[in-house]
Amino acid sequence: MTTTRSPRVEPVSHQIPSVVALVPAAGRGLRMGGSIPKQFLSLGGEPLIVQSLRTLQAAPVVDQIVLAVPLADVEYCQKEIVLRHRLTKVTKVVAGGVERQDSVRYALAQVHSETEIVLIHDAVRPLMTLQMIAEVVAAAKKEGAAIIALPMRDTVKQVRVDGTIERTVDRAPLWLAQTPQAFRRDWIEAAHTKAHAEGIRATDDASLVEWLGHPVSVVEGSGENIKVTRPEDIVIGEAILASRMKGRELGEKSPKDKRSQSRRPRKSS
Ligand code: CTP
Ligand code: MG
Repeated sequence: MTTTRSPRVEPVSHQIPSVVALVPAAGRGLRMGGSIPKQFLSLGGEPLIVQSLRTLQAAPVVDQIVLAVPLADVEYCQKEIVLRHRLTKVTKVVAGGVERQDSVRYALAQVHSETEIVLIHDAVRPLMTLQMIAEVVAAAKKEGAAIIALPMRDTVKQVRVDGTIERTVDRAPLWLAQTPQAFRRDWIEAAHTKAHAEGIRATDDASLVEWLGHPVSVVEGSGENIKVTRPEDIVIGEAILASRMKGRELGEKSPKDKRSQSRRPRKSS
């Protein structure tokens, strides 16, 4: 009997990852309340963080994922989030910092020096889609930096400290920033390094790249790409998931309840 050998496959770690996704998940979820940080709360039977990571894992354009989690939960996440859910693209789990910007900076330090694009996505936006990832990465490859954002739909008022309206703001040029956001690696590294050195703080990464003077493009996202911030967002998220499930073809498996039986991360005080 003859045997044939399959061609040797080089381990992924030997290749330079072209697109690396950073997932800040090291917050405490103060506005959500409760004892478990919101990224570990269940949505559709799985932790929010798993929902976000699964979409990144499934995105053909994403080569590698670096996850930043609370220091006390690094081991738990390696075992119960990454290994348990076979998230093979997550090659590093790092401890996050005091603020989101610190967590992103620590994750960024793990990115290969020849990587082309860094994609940043908040763990607590679990309803992001493959299309958003593809579009924002394509735009960043072309323009250098791009974010998913949503045009303002509501009428916007500027209000005085006494609670009366000063004026109605023209909403036409106003967009709400979301994640994912994608950048040339050299731009986002320079932005974080300079911001850290000069004590500049921002709530998203695009702000730092704008501050450096680079143009940042906007790709229209979806109102479904909610950021889970307060308890009511879980209710909204479940409704969006349910409507997506309904819309899918028959025969596709529904996500099983994979809630971990082991210790869940607790908030540190
Ligand atoms: N984040 C992080 N490190 C921090 C703070 C936040 O990695 N020091 C992450 C969060 O885990 C989340 C994302 O950044 O995935 C967006 O932050 P936000 O929605 O503000 O989450 P929290 O800071 O956890 O919530 P809150 O502001 O209500 O405390
Ligand atoms: Mg926060």
